[in-house]
Amino acid sequence: MRKHTYCPNPYILAEIMPYGYVYPCSCGWIRGYSFGNIFEQSFDEIWNGEKAQEFRQKLFDNDFSLCPGCQNLEILQEADTKNAKLVSPSPERILLGLDEFCDVKCIFCRGENYKINTNLIPEDKKDKLIDILSPWLTGAKYVKTNAVGEVFASKISRDLIKQIAKNFPHIKFEIITNGIQCTKENIEELNISNKISMMTVSLHAIKEKTYNKLVKGGNFKKVLVNLEYLSELKKNGRIERFELHFTVTSINYKEIPDMIKYARKIGAKIRFLGLDCSRDLEKLYNKINIQDKRHPKYNSLVKIAHTKEFLNAKDIIEQGYDYFVGLERISFNEKIKRFFNG
Ligand SMILES: C[S@@+](CC[C@H](N)C(=O)[O-])C[C@H]1O[C@@H](n2cnc3c(N)ncnc32)[C@H](O)[C@@H]1O
Ligand code: SF4
Ligand code: SF4
Repeated sequence: MRKHTYCPNPYILAEIMPYGYVYPCSCGWIRGYSFGNIFEQSFDEIWNGEKAQEFRQKLFDNDFSLCPGCQNLEILQEADTKNAKLVSPSPERILLGLDEFCDVKCIFCRGENYKINTNLIPEDKKDKLIDILSPWLTGAKYVKTNAVGEVFASKISRDLIKQIAKNFPHIKFEIITNGIQCTKENIEELNISNKISMMTVSLHAIKEKTYNKLVKGGNFKKVLVNLEYLSELKKNGRIERFELHFTVTSINYKEIPDMIKYARKIGAKIRFLGLDCSRDLEKLYNKINIQDKRHPKYNSLVKIAHTKEFLNAKDIIEQGYDYFVGLERISFNEKIKRFFNG
């Protein structure tokens, strides 16, 4: 009997991103396929509208043309029904990325000439954000923010978190941050101390010199101090999940084994992100994209992926293990073939 695939994301996840576009998954992976726009359409029109149903139907029919960049193929399951479910009551997880303001410039995120765009939220909607988001938040259990900027540096993000915490007390927060301003005081100011389900800190190097090459205007020492504090919170059960993000490039790859040791020391898991070219990286992308077989340092990365530190760290590596061990980004078609061949 023919198998059908089921991916939970388009039923449970809504990524609400710049200009108000809603995506069922990482925008880069699905090459910008949007269900609709919160500033122009109602919740029902977007979440169960034509585009949402088309996306769900395609995945069910094993047509992955809308997901060419998927980096989380492990999530696919075999559907236990022959009929596609095309609607969903509401997303349980909302990822918010409405403000891209940031206090630093990471070279792989923002190029030399990058200018902050302050028009991501229409002027007449700025004061009404919480009302516009209400139908999305009512059924949600988790809010993750800020996906495109720095949560602690953005007044819009901070105000929104405070309003959500007040109006939707059941919601738990997943904070993703560069860690520089992630202090006890700043967390308390948001009124979410007891509501953090996940804390993710992006730390792409364990040596200050390497960090400074990647994070322009950053503060390595401050991040380490804040990570100590978060590590205590994790130990005391005050945050449920604690993760580091490490974007792999030719500049920092040698520090992968030490990052794993460090993650273990502070009780965090670690996620290795493949370099994404969806941002305006121009020539830099090819220069630092070490996961490409044609990159001159690719074989050195292969060696790192076969070190004891790496191979014994499956328990704390959340994403990236398969890519590094096989050291190829398993192509979508290959993965799907494996899925169907059992
Ligand atoms: C855009 S940031 C926003 C949250 C926060 N400012 C931070 O840095 O964690 C979200 C994540 O995307 C990662 N990132 C940024 N640009 C990237 C790229 N070109 N390729 C892969 N990951 C990237 C960052 O390292 C970070 O872990
Ligand atoms: S198949 Fe992959 S890209 Fe598509 S929605 Fe699921 S996780 Fe996202
Ligand atoms: S801290 Fe986050 S949002 Fe800011 S430049 Fe770096 S990756 Fe981008």
